Order: sequence, then structure tokens, then C-alpha cells
Amino acid sequence: MMGAVYVALMHGEVVDKTGEEKASSLTHFDLHDIARSCRSYGVARYFVVTPLETMRYLAQRMISYWNAGIGNYSIPNRGQALEVVDVVTSLDEVLQAIWARHHERARIVATSARKQASQITYRGLAEDIRSQKTPVLLLFGTAYGLSSRCIEQCDNTLPPIRDGRWNHFSVRSAVAITLERLIGEDG
Ligand SMILES: C[S@@+](CC[C@H](N)C(=O)[O-])C[C@H]1O[C@@H](n2cnc3c(N)ncnc32)[C@H](O)[C@@H]1O
Repeated sequence: MMGAVYVALMHGEVVDKTGEEKASSLTHFDLHDIARSCRSYGVARYFVVTPLETMRYLAQRMISYWNAGIGNYSIPNRGQALEVVDVVTSLDEVLQAIWARHHERARIVATSARKQASQITYRGLAEDIRSQKTPVLLLFGTAYGLSSRCIEQCDNTLPPIRDGRWNHFSVRSAVAITLERLIGEDG
């Protein structure tokens, strides 16, 4: 039995270009496109994490437009993808939601375009997901990436995609590549 995989897109605990921890703005592309990838790979929930009340309001408005509003009539599969989204305030709230569902602490795995400590391989994590029931929470950053304070709370980090080359992916592409490596079919 495959363990549950969760995705969190962090808009708090991220850094700006000076390296200072800041809250970032939500983008509609991140909301829609990551929801589509999560739904396609059977991710249990996609958490949009933002400490900013206005951004949570905006996210909920966008979701209800596509789920229940005229958007549901014009592009129904966008609303279907967005059913996987939960909008929350903090990483703690994410962990509590996973705990409530599994009665187990999630294994938190951070992603970054730069090498970080406690690295595991994609193959190793894919194997753990296939063979263990511990829920896995994949963390993705916005702005200039997850802060070191955030990465230090994680159990593991994944190696950068295309390490050692120019490798600054949009977070939407990084999520799709990561899910394909961890859950996608072989060949
Ligand atoms: C730093 S944000 C940049 C956001 C950017 N403004 C955008 O449009 O998506 C990108 C996030 O995607 C992931 N990411 C980007 N490049 C990556 C790479 N080479 N390897 C692993 N993850 C990567 C990380 O989670 C990172 O925090």
C-alpha cells in the first residue's frame, strides 16, 4: 500500500532576495497549475500556506469561482483540480491536519535549487512512499525559496533538480518534476 503524499506551497518562512525572511504573494498560476499536478499524481492534499489573511481570502475566492461559480461551467476540470487544495496559515496547521487524518507525524521533505543538509535520493524516497505508511509532506518555496529556519525543521531534503547547472525552475515545474520522479510510472 502506498503511503499518502502531501504537498505544501509555502508563502511564509521564505526569503526575499536579501535573504531576509518574508511573506510572499499568492499567484493564480501556482494555485491552478500545482493543483492540476497534485490531482494527476494522486496527492492527498495540496496545502497553500500563507500567514496573510488577504491572500487566504483571495485563494478561497479563486477556488470558489472555479468550483461553484461561472468558472465551473466554463472549465469544469479546473474546479476538479482545485478540490485537492486547502488554504492554511502555517506549517503547524498543515502538520495538525495530517496528524488528524493519519494519527502520525508527517515526514517533512524540503526542496531547493541548492544542496541542503540531510539529503536523501529520489529513488530512496520513492521506495519509502511505496513501502511505508508514514505520510510524506513535500515542501516547496516561493519568492527566493524556503528559509534555512524552515529547512532545519524538515526531516530530509531532496537533491536539487539539474544540480550544478543553471537550475532555477518555476515552482510549478519543480512540483511536476518532483512528483513524476517520486510517483510517476517508469518509462
Ligand atoms: C524559489 S521559488 C521561485 C518561485 C518563482 N518566483 C516562480 O515563479 O515559481 C521556486 C521553488 O521551486 C522549487 N525549485 C526550484 N528550482 C528547483 C530545483 N532546481 N530543484 C528542486 N526544487 C526547485 C523549490 O521549492 C523552490 O523554493
